[in-house]
Amino acid sequence: MSDTPKKLTPRAITAMKGVEKIAALTAYDFRTARLLDDAGIPVLLVGDSLGTTVLGYANTLPVTLEDIIRHTAAVVRGTRRALVIADMPFMTYQASIEQALLNCGRVLQETGCEAVKIEGGKFRAPTIRALEQNGIPVLAHIGLTPQSIQTLGIRVQGRGEEAACQLLADAQAVEAAGAFAIVLETVPAALGAQVAQAVKIPVIGIGAGPDCDGQILVINDVLGLSGDFSPKFVKRYVDLGSQITAAAATYKSEVTTSAFPGPENEYSD
Ligand code: KIV
Repeated sequence: MSDTPKKLTPRAITAMKGVEKIAALTAYDFRTARLLDDAGIPVLLVGDSLGTTVLGYANTLPVTLEDIIRHTAAVVRGTRRALVIADMPFMTYQASIEQALLNCGRVLQETGCEAVKIEGGKFRAPTIRALEQNGIPVLAHIGLTPQSIQTLGIRVQGRGEEAACQLLADAQAVEAAGAFAIVLETVPAALGAQVAQAVKIPVIGIGAGPDCDGQILVINDVLGLSGDFSPKFVKRYVDLGSQITAAAATYKSEVTTSAFPGPENEYSD
């Protein structure tokens, strides 16, 4: 019998609701994906946060389809069990349903990932339905949607009765359109709980409180690789940033003093 773990499917992730909370993380490269997969993380999102975490942009808007394809393919190569989801970049699915089908289809074909994530609630439901009907599983992203930074800004969503009702309607609309799960970003914790109760698909929160069906964080934030940037909803589990700086400083000092390379790092004749 093969000891290769069985790949998780979007259907398997949907079935986790009410059974086990979903611990999702972003990943952008082969090695990190392998480490997270080995840790048993069931969902890896190649987020367009790639733009800020890896490529050094101020926000996610400059990320291209080619960027996401290259990094998603690397994450897929590093993954044996986790479901890999590609985050569709700004303006690769918004212009028309046809554009969404062609670009999302290309991402699935060229990377080997299992699903895509797109931003938007009720107004995005027709696109989600078309993708699902054509064999492309969709993770719907509602609440704070970073690709709308120029219109929404970066602030808590769903505050007040009208906005909360709108968000509940968004969740129900994307579920009805066939999304296999929802990412819910930056809303009051009580509303996060309400949204999770209002739908049968998993609601994976980021800054949406503890009562969602799972949580997702950006891996750089979890590992302490985001500099001083740390929104309230982030928990830093290790400070790799300072460890890397300290290791590089030690390396520099050993090179300048000829302590490295030592005899154990040499080849003999
Ligand atoms: O781009 C991203 O990393 C995301 C997650 C934070 C949900 O959209």
